[in-house]
Order: sequence, then C-alpha cells, then structure tokens
Amino acid sequence: MKAVDSPDFRVGVVGAGAMGQGIAQVSLTGGMPVVLFDAQEGGAAAGAEKVFGRLDRMVEKGRLAEADVGPTKARLAVAESLEAFADCDVVIEAVFEDLEVKRSLFQQLEAIVRPDCLIATNTSSLPIASIARVCERRDRIAGMHFFNPVPVMKLVEIISGPETNAEAAAILSALGKRMGRVPVEVKDSPGFLVNLGGRAFTTEGLRIQQEGVAAPAQIDAVCRDCGHFRMGPFELMDLTGIDVNYPVSQIVCAEFQHDPRLRTTPHHKLLYEAGRFGRKTAAGHYRYDGSGNMVDPPSPDHEPDAAPAAQMVVAEVNEALVALLSEAGVSILAADDGTAPIVAAPLGEDSTTFAARTDADHRRLVCIDTTADTSKRITVMTAPGADPASRDAVAAALVGTGRKVTAIQDSPGFIAQRIRAMIANLGCEIAQMGLAAPKDIDLALQLGLNYPLGPLEIAEDLGVKETLSIMQHLQAITGDDRYRPSLWLRRRALLGLPIHTAG
Ligand SMILES: NC(=O)c1ccc[n+]([C@@H]2O[C@H](COP(=O)([O-])OP(=O)(O)OC[C@H]3O[C@@H](n4cnc5c(N)ncnc54)[C@H](O)[C@@H]3O)[C@@H](O)[C@H]2O)c1
Repeated sequence: MKAVDSPDFRVGVVGAGAMGQGIAQVSLTGGMPVVLFDAQEGGAAAGAEKVFGRLDRMVEKGRLAEADVGPTKARLAVAESLEAFADCDVVIEAVFEDLEVKRSLFQQLEAIVRPDCLIATNTSSLPIASIARVCERRDRIAGMHFFNPVPVMKLVEIISGPETNAEAAAILSALGKRMGRVPVEVKDSPGFLVNLGGRAFTTEGLRIQQEGVAAPAQIDAVCRDCGHFRMGPFELMDLTGIDVNYPVSQIVCAEFQHDPRLRTTPHHKLLYEAGRFGRKTAAGHYRYDGSGNMVDPPSPDHEPDAAPAAQMVVAEVNEALVALLSEAGVSILAADDGTAPIVAAPLGEDSTTFAARTDADHRRLVCIDTTADTSKRITVMTAPGADPASRDAVAAALVGTGRKVTAIQDSPGFIAQRIRAMIANLGCEIAQMGLAAPKDIDLALQLGLNYPLGPLEIAEDLGVKETLSIMQHLQAITGDDRYRPSLWLRRRALLGLPIHTAG
C-alpha cells in the first residue's frame, strides 16, 4: 500500500452530493488526486463545478494561493463509471443513506478496486458491520464520518467495524489529517460518537421542559449564559430540524435497547408529527419569520416585584453563594430571624428535598445555582408553596448586581447543573463502553457539536465527586434510571481520580 503522504495517493469519491463534494474538496486541498463519480448522469460534473467554485472563493478569501488553484482543480477527474476507481488507494462512499444501495455499491467496488484499496463509508447512521457484511474482505472496510459542511467542520470519525483491521483505521486517520481534518477513532456503535454523545443536551432540555421546571427560552438562556453553549437545546433543535433530530433520537435510543438515558419526550414527537420542524417550517419550539429570525421570543428574564432584600439567611455555607451575596451588598444573618429570605446552593437536590433535609422554611427558601458561570445570569429556584415575595426580594438583590435572573420551578439540579451532569455522565458511559479514548470523546464533541468543553472536561469542571452527587440525587429524587451514574464516573469519584483515568 502506498504511503498516505505520497503525492499520488489517489482518493475515489462515490456520490457527488453535498458530502461527496466536500470530501473531494478537502482531498484536493490536501494535495491528492481525486476521482469523483455519481450515478446520476452529469451529477459528477455538476459536483466538480461546485467544488471548483468553492476553490475560487478560497482564492478570493486568501485561503488558497492563486498559483495553486489551477493545479488543485487539475487533480480532480470526473469518472463516467466505477471502473475509474481501479487505481485508487482509498474509495470513500457518500451516496444515499440506504443500506441496500450502499451494500450493492460496496460489492461492485470490491470487484473493481485493488486488493490493498481501502473502502470507507460516510454513513451517518448505518452500522459499518451491516455494510461490510456483504463484502469479501471486511478487514479493509471502515467508516469515515465527515460533518456538514465538510470544509468547515474539522472533525472526522474513523469508525472500525468488528472486522476492520487496525492498520486500515490508522491509514484512514492519517488520510483524515492530510485532508486537514481532526480524526477521532471510534468503534462501530449506534450514533458513533457525536450522534450518541449529543443526545444528553437536547433530551435533558426537553425533560426539564416536560417537568414544568422552565420554558425553552429560559433553558436556552441558562445554557448560553451559564453553561457557555453557543446555543441552547431548543434553538439547536429548531436549527438542525426536528425532522432530523427526532428520528435520530428514536434510532439511537432504540439501538441502545431503549436505555432511559437516551429517551426523548412526547413533546418532541408531537412537534415532529405536527410538522413543526423548526426554522425550515417557520415554527418549532419557537416561531420564525421568512428570513429565519425568531418572532417574539419570550423573555427568559425574571422581573422581580419586590425591593431587594438587605438581609438573608444562608442555610448551608457555600463560598460562591457568600461571595455573590457580598457583591449584592446583602448582610448575612447569624441566625434565622423568621422573616428574612433563606438562601442555599444545593447540589443535585431540589428545593423541596433541601428544605426537608435541613428544616429550612420552604416558604422563604430560595435556591441559587452557583455551579456554572454566574457572571451574566443567575438561576433561582423555589419549592411549591414558596412565598413569591421572598424569591423576588432575593432576585432583586441579584438583579442589582447587573445580572439577569431566571426564576424556575423546583428541579433536582436546576437547569445548568443537570444538563451539564447529564452530558458528563453520558460521556463517561461512552468511555466505559470503550467506544473511544477519553480525550477523543472530549475532542469529538467540542469539534462536532461546538461544546465549550468535552463531556469529561465538564465532569472535571463541575468536580468529579460533585457530578456523581448530582446524578445520585437526580436518580433518587426522580426515581428514574435515566439518571443512574455511569460506573466510569462512580469509580473515579469514589477513588478521587481524575475523570480521564484509563482502565
Ligand atoms: N448531509 C449531511 O449533513 C451528512 C452528514 C454526515 C453524513 N452524511 C451521509 O453522507 C451520505 C451522503 O449524503 P449527502 O447529504 O451528500 O446526500 P446527497 O443526496 O446530497 O448526495 C448523494 C449523492 O449520491 C448519488 N448516488 C446515489 N446512489 C448512488 C450510487 N449507487 N452510486 C453513485 N452515486 C449515487 C446521488 O445521485 C447524489 O448525488 C449519506 O450516507 C448521509 O447519511 C450526510
């Protein structure tokens, strides 16, 4: 087999649609000759024209030297038939997402390509094993899962089926690097890495909504301002399209034998059934105008209807909480005077559980989430039967520091705590299943989903013991195994080990 860095390492691309064009483009800019084929007459030539147009735009933007554009384009050959792949070192398939179409294509390719040619599929959901099953030489078949748009999205998942040999995966990783991508090696598993790891963010947002804790606009604002996510789960679902993310949720959950960790909610399905797919249909979780701008998005900010409280009782000492109160100019009472608001910063407990455990008066208890960034927005939470005047007196004091306040109903883990802990827990489970190396799980979710931190890094950020505690409280309070802690998390928390510790 030719070395991946040799100038004439030849890449074949089957399917000249959105993904095939992108794969061809990054192969060309990686300096490799490319053969492009499409079953539709004129499809490959049309795809090549689109690639050429994008290369020209790269020159305009200074991303490709003018002198290089001609030779780069000249490396692309449009093929009339699959026979043109006979001399390729690797063939990457990016045709319709249909198992039978892919299987038949792989069988045809096997009869044409050299014995040392690797064949990769860009499937987003089909098991590599199902495609390889019909092939003679399954050791050279793997997944090479790019993200859309390919030239922009740096990540490529290199997926090994049960029979893919390690050398093939290593060659495809090197090829990914030559294409300017960041390869991450993953085992064949439903949703691979990104589409599995990404389930926690959206489904936990939906679950919080289902429990009546908060509305989508509140959950989104907390995720952005406190969790540093570029978008909240509801905005994200509306952008990617509920026609895409609802079926993916269903498939991944079913493939994992209906693991409750991966369950979505009936409301998600309802939007799907109603054809409210998000931006593309002008309605989803939010409403949009013709240009895709949100129409009258509800405010996530709480407007307190009380004067700021000058005195408060701190139910359980917490450094971050005390610092916040001091910034707000609040004096902390040494003992409960029976009238001042009582504040607390529970970890994984809802206000009800906290009040019951500490004997704090639940009517005056206002819980504050201090686990994520509180510099822009603060989440306050109260138990059923709480006195709105106490909550608003606390909220007013916090608003007085220049921060926004989001007021929510009782929830184990507020919003940011539980969403972040769920992402961390699922990342830990992926590590426990050995689907990818711990560092690669972080890398893949940051690059593939724009997460501010990878799932295991989120566990470190929250604290490994604290993440376990949040999960344990969530499980105990809700009685739902959706929240059962991953063994990976539990063992590292109990032993006081860093979350990335292998083994
Ligand atoms: N679009 C995405 O966001 C995305 C992301 C990751 C992976 N994928 C996967 O990549 C693959 C391609 O997706 P796409 O969005 O580029 O689709 P697309 O519909 O834009 O393009 C598919 C192309 O394949 C051609 N084709 C179909 N059957 C063929 C065959 N037997 N031989 C040769 N060409 C054939 C079609 O004519 C079409 O041009 C799918 O498996 C998809 O699941 C898509």
